[in-house]
Amino acid sequence: MRSVIRGVGSALPKRVMTNDDMSKVVDTSHEWIVERTGIHARHIAGEGETTRTLAVAAAKDALAAAGMAADEIDLVIVATSTPDQTFPATATSVQADLGIHHGMAFDVQAVCSGFVYALTTADALLKAAQGKAALVIGSETFSRILDWTDRGTCVLFGDGAGAFVLTAEENPGDRGILACKLHSDGRYNDKLYVDGGPSTTKTVGHLRMEGKEVFKHAVVNIASVMQEVLNDAKLPASAIDWFVPHQANRRILEGTARKLGISEDKIVLTLDRHGNTSAASIPLAFDVAVKDGRIRKGDLVLMEAMGGGFTWGAVLARL
Ligand code: UT7
Repeated sequence: MRSVIRGVGSALPKRVMTNDDMSKVVDTSHEWIVERTGIHARHIAGEGETTRTLAVAAAKDALAAAGMAADEIDLVIVATSTPDQTFPATATSVQADLGIHHGMAFDVQAVCSGFVYALTTADALLKAAQGKAALVIGSETFSRILDWTDRGTCVLFGDGAGAFVLTAEENPGDRGILACKLHSDGRYNDKLYVDGGPSTTKTVGHLRMEGKEVFKHAVVNIASVMQEVLNDAKLPASAIDWFVPHQANRRILEGTARKLGISEDKIVLTLDRHGNTSAASIPLAFDVAVKDGRIRKGDLVLMEAMGGGFTWGAVLARL
């Protein structure tokens, strides 16, 4: 039994904010942002656009791609650090908006690693016969928790959502999720965090990051977890057709690809137009590459992410 990716979808807020727009808000420049990160623009949620609405739009897009109806879904997982409310889980709101009245829905909070955490959780639940089909969504509105006076962080992030439809298949051949691996190390809690919360400040807080520290750990942790899933699946890095990384920084994702010997033309890069959309970045990038015809049925795809916690992980799947 394997979980097979049946459909992929995404959604973006209407408003695009370029680096030049950003330089009107904080003391920065297009040149600095491109050189240090690779980002050219990002989408920013406007009034009425929330993590929930973006998640629902991405889910509908993924269901259409899968050729499935919403009521065929038994499990809805939303990976997010920017929920519409502290509770209930955004996943239950998405479930309601899609008209699904059975099964289960919950959120996963692993910051930028949220999507690989959610995918691994959905895979485990499907394998445990807790349902036959799952919607796994990464949806974020980080623009709402940014400190718009801190040029070290506000230039990096964007809003958006992406979704996968997974189905449990008895004999999928070589298709499906082949290996998943998750890690966390809470000693690094204070390197990337939000300085507020319901139980402490009773506020939402703002994102804080020691960029250099995160960068240092990211390359090492990501390269090592990528190797772990390849070892689990007994496949060499040369077998990978597409590398769909979390889109945090061009230097990080190119550095990790180089460490594993994955050539640059296999990297799906959407950071330039989306910025870092946290838990949404992998399914968003995946969907771009499916829609433009790069990722096709039968392709072997390696996904990875690292984020606050620290949390990190990787998933290897054949479409
Ligand atoms: O998705 C979760 C995981 N997150 C990540 O993986 C992010 C990892 N970190 C990074 O991507 C990089 O550390 C950053 C892109 C955040 C920063 O790049 P950096 O090369 O580490 O720069 P820095 O923070 O050391 O700053 C270098 C200089 C500083 O000036 P001084 O002290 O050298 O005079 C900063 O004040 O650049 C300055 N600076 C800026 N200048 C123009 C910082 N932000 C900006 C800015 N525009 N937006």
